[in-house]
Amino acid sequence: MITEKQISQQLKREIKSPIRIGNLVDLNIDTKAFLKCFQPFFENLEDDCYLVRENQIKYLKTAFPEDVVAINEIRKAYFYGKVTAEILEPWIRQLGREQKTQFENSSMVTRQRSIASFTIEKKDNEFVIERISESSFEQNVDDFRSWQRVFKEADEKVLKRSIFNQLLQEAFKMVAVIHPSIQKLKITSHFMRTIAAGIVKGENSPEGVHEDGANYIISALVVNRRNITGGETQIFEKRNDENELIFQKELEVGEFAFQADTGEEKTFGNDLWHYVTPIQSINKTEIGVRDIIGFDIQLLDSL
Ligand SMILES: [Fe+2]
Repeated sequence: MITEKQISQQLKREIKSPIRIGNLVDLNIDTKAFLKCFQPFFENLEDDCYLVRENQIKYLKTAFPEDVVAINEIRKAYFYGKVTAEILEPWIRQLGREQKTQFENSSMVTRQRSIASFTIEKKDNEFVIERISESSFEQNVDDFRSWQRVFKEADEKVLKRSIFNQLLQEAFKMVAVIHPSIQKLKITSHFMRTIAAGIVKGENSPEGVHEDGANYIISALVVNRRNITGGETQIFEKRNDENELIFQKELEVGEFAFQADTGEEKTFGNDLWHYVTPIQSINKTEIGVRDIIGFDIQLLDSL
């Protein structure tokens, strides 16, 4: 497993905030069995319509810079689906032919997802895992992700399998190496498919270099890469308001990136951020997909 220690050696300066780059084998998980269980699961995720609406709004703001104030006025209602796409008509009507194609491209579904939250507690050397149902999701960040979004809850059947529990337990163990007295965590898992179609790239992190508002994250455990280039995981350190790239890797299927996320600069001294580059399809006549499981990990109780 690559840790912040190897990264520090390469950089020739010390990174103290925890980073782990590894694969399912490092976590003692049977890769073949895990992929067999989870790869089909990604075929039935729900479209992330919030992202489509945000992309449309972003496009219109670029096309009509003089109307940014008016577009911003309807942005939130449209984001939440309280008003239909009809509200965009006054601007769409004015688009030229090429602009219309660009707008249609911005309207394509490039991300699908579902969500499931758990608490995991260590009691008398046993793990107790409980699923918590969450009607909505918001992130403690400064962009549109702080707006409450409702995502489909992931199917109970798949997540009840022991191999997923094993992943939750291994995530707990990684945190416990850093925080030996930790007793309980909350883990919100995201199942995400990024889609590239024709010339339209798939963006997993449209907000750019970011944090997720959790103590730790697995930004990605890659479950599938099909007909794509890109999707490179990047880790940054924020120093004097500048993001410095300190690690980059195109994670292969079965590989993951774990890192400290928010507030760690106060605990460890380095402010880590992250990003994943867009994916593009290799054969443009077919879609390209990247499927990942992401974890937001919140420390709850310690001894
Ligand atoms: Fe993220």
